[in-house]
Amino acid sequence: MKPAPPVTSVFMPPTVTAGRRTRHDGCPPRPDNRPSPAQAMLKLMKNVFSPSETTAVIRALRERRTTGPLRFDSAAEPDHAVVAEAVESARWAPNHKRTEPWRFFLLNKDRIGALADVNAERMRRNGASEANIEAKHREWSSKPGVMIVLCQHAAEHDDILRKQNYAACAAASQNFQLHLFASGIASKWSTAACWDVPGFWELLGFEGWPELVEPVGIFSYGVPASVPPARRNLDRTEILRNFRETGDAPAG
Ligand SMILES: Cc1cc2nc3c(=O)[nH]c(=O)nc-3n(C[C@H](O)[C@H](O)[C@H](O)COP(=O)(O)O)c2cc1C
Repeated sequence: MKPAPPVTSVFMPPTVTAGRRTRHDGCPPRPDNRPSPAQAMLKLMKNVFSPSETTAVIRALRERRTTGPLRFDSAAEPDHAVVAEAVESARWAPNHKRTEPWRFFLLNKDRIGALADVNAERMRRNGASEANIEAKHREWSSKPGVMIVLCQHAAEHDDILRKQNYAACAAASQNFQLHLFASGIASKWSTAACWDVPGFWELLGFEGWPELVEPVGIFSYGVPASVPPARRNLDRTEILRNFRETGDAPAG
């Protein structure tokens, strides 16, 4: 009886012989001589993902949840060096014409306090009750960490490129949040319009709203004590029109 073929995974690393990659990557040979998925992956990266690495990436994409200050562990200090390091992941987001429009501002304790004051003033201007303002001020000043993300356009960028710049900053912000999530740090993206309130730009080191700058978000982060439930209104079948399954020809 022939021995059973080894269990293979498309993600199995290839065997390397004398510094050269061979075709023996654990996948059965393909009759059409097409590269296996693992060999294709090697064109994208130096080392293919192990199955558990692939699973970890996909889990991070699906399991990250917006987790706000009320769910942070007030007794635990997040590792702020990890947060600074997450900017390294953020800056590899796709960006059209390599404008690299993202700018990051990691606040210290004093600046988080100043931001809480600015937010209180924003709420006051919006007619919030004093009780509400006070509660939010407590919440904002207790944030263990805050990163602010801005989008820097250039004068020669047209409207389309500016839209692309903002989209790139959103992609970078998601990279940033995923890096934190994978490191055990929870975060929340807020767009509370603090930038309209006096004092906001000063706490980032500017004298006022700088030219060609568009705010992207205020990211609070901390060690989670609990996580919110996952919620989506639409499932995959409602958002994906899969012509590969329906086989429809184009109309007309
Ligand atoms: C561009 C953008 C702006 C957001 N602004 C706020 C905000 O101002 N306040 C807030 O509570 N959440 C804000 N969020 C977080 C969303 O509310 C959150 O992503 C949504 O509830 C889905 O939850 P999930 O991230 O856990 O999937 C924002 C998210 C994005 C992408």
